[in-house]
Amino acid sequence: MQRRIWIKQLSSAALYYNPIVKYASLFSGDDALNKKMFGKDFAWGVSTAAAQIEGAATEYGKGKSIWDEFSSHKGKIKTDESPEKACDFYHSYKTDIALIKQLGFTNFRFSISWPRIFPDGYGYMNQNGIDFYNNVIDTCLELGITPWVTLYHWDLPQALQNKGGWINREILLWFSEYVHICANKFGDRVKNWMVLNEPLAFTSLGYLLGIHAPGMKGFKHFFSAVHHAALCQSLGGQILRNNVEDANVGTTFSCAPIYAYNENNKHNEAVKRYDAFVNRLFLEPSLGLGYPIHDLPVLKHLEKCYKSNDENKLAFDFDFIGIQNYTRYVVRDNIFIPYLHGLQVPPKKLGNDTTDMKWEVYPDGLYKIVKQFSAYKGIKKIMITENGAAFHDGLDNGLIHDNQRVNYFKEYLAQVLKAKNEGINVDGYFVWSLLDNFEWAEGYRPRFGLVYVDFNTQQRILKDSALWFKDFLK
Ligand code: GAL
Repeated sequence: MQRRIWIKQLSSAALYYNPIVKYASLFSGDDALNKKMFGKDFAWGVSTAAAQIEGAATEYGKGKSIWDEFSSHKGKIKTDESPEKACDFYHSYKTDIALIKQLGFTNFRFSISWPRIFPDGYGYMNQNGIDFYNNVIDTCLELGITPWVTLYHWDLPQALQNKGGWINREILLWFSEYVHICANKFGDRVKNWMVLNEPLAFTSLGYLLGIHAPGMKGFKHFFSAVHHAALCQSLGGQILRNNVEDANVGTTFSCAPIYAYNENNKHNEAVKRYDAFVNRLFLEPSLGLGYPIHDLPVLKHLEKCYKSNDENKLAFDFDFIGIQNYTRYVVRDNIFIPYLHGLQVPPKKLGNDTTDMKWEVYPDGLYKIVKQFSAYKGIKKIMITENGAAFHDGLDNGLIHDNQRVNYFKEYLAQVLKAKNEGINVDGYFVWSLLDNFEWAEGYRPRFGLVYVDFNTQQRILKDSALWFKDFLK
């Protein structure tokens, strides 16, 4: 008897301490999900962005970006860190891309740093920058990984910001030159393109609220930044289509389904206003529907930025739309909030788990937003170009048992599958992100990676979530 108890204790202790057994438990149970269910053409990938991973921010001829400048001012980044070194992907791209392959992903989304190509924003071209992206692209192709390139993931050349950045209409010319160069230099091998990353995020956080680079505030700045970004969205699409043979042209949107606090009609009205702002502001003009002014009248000010015929320049028939979803919003009516007249209910009050970003974990939300987007006639195809979570990742004997992240992926993927099984044209899923990285104004604290990065040594450690994907994608 004594012995049996002893053995039982020993084996449960071993189960607890033996990382392999503990990790094996991730796969046990009724894991209903498997890769085959998504179909053989479904694209599995990881997403990244230049400013968040590359480092070498002031080397090899790269110009300063607005994030290099913004982070040099005390207090702008919560931890006073900068993207200067980040994950040093600039030097480790070969081994990092080999990691993508090792995990079984066959698609890699990365962005091109505009100031690495044009240090002054336009004019003089930095050949080192072209060479670097050629190397990244060629490494992907050698390893059988398809590159997906984002043209603008928030790192505007500071030289352009000095002239007003997104609030200066000349950005249409600067952007056009940049897109032409990228299309012509890389378009022979890169077929999948995204014009902008989350235009609502960079215009609202950077030009309205001032909490992201370049730190500008106010509605006037915001409206001109929005209108110019919306014009660049369609312009970029057109340039890619005209210059890249067989291009698959998309763009990406941050989006979150909006729920009413309760069924009271005034909360439902707040939902409409939030939805117009959060989900429809950039999508609808691209579909030829104009800005959603009817449901959020303050957007009428956008028309003041119009020059002749602008209303006809906002649409472009993208081949795919990239949905980037992490959470949902629950809102209630509140007359004191300007224009939106609504307030988000704090996620921690909703009773579900929250991530390190204080975002509510709400897998159904991904299904709901995919469904909402798919109802637009003009959307041909949906790709989930970002989804993932930051959780505190503790090192445990050199391993990271990020069970919460594993569960997050299982639950969100189940919702993608649900949408797919209903016949919605959702054709790919990209994890945010491959590596822990520079999380903008939050610094390096929130860790979103499948792969843990020790930022002192640049060592990479596969988290359990990476191993879970490796098994899932086998
Ligand atoms: C997205 C953004 C990414 C990443 C992610 C996690 O909005 O495109 O660059 O930061 O959020 O917060």
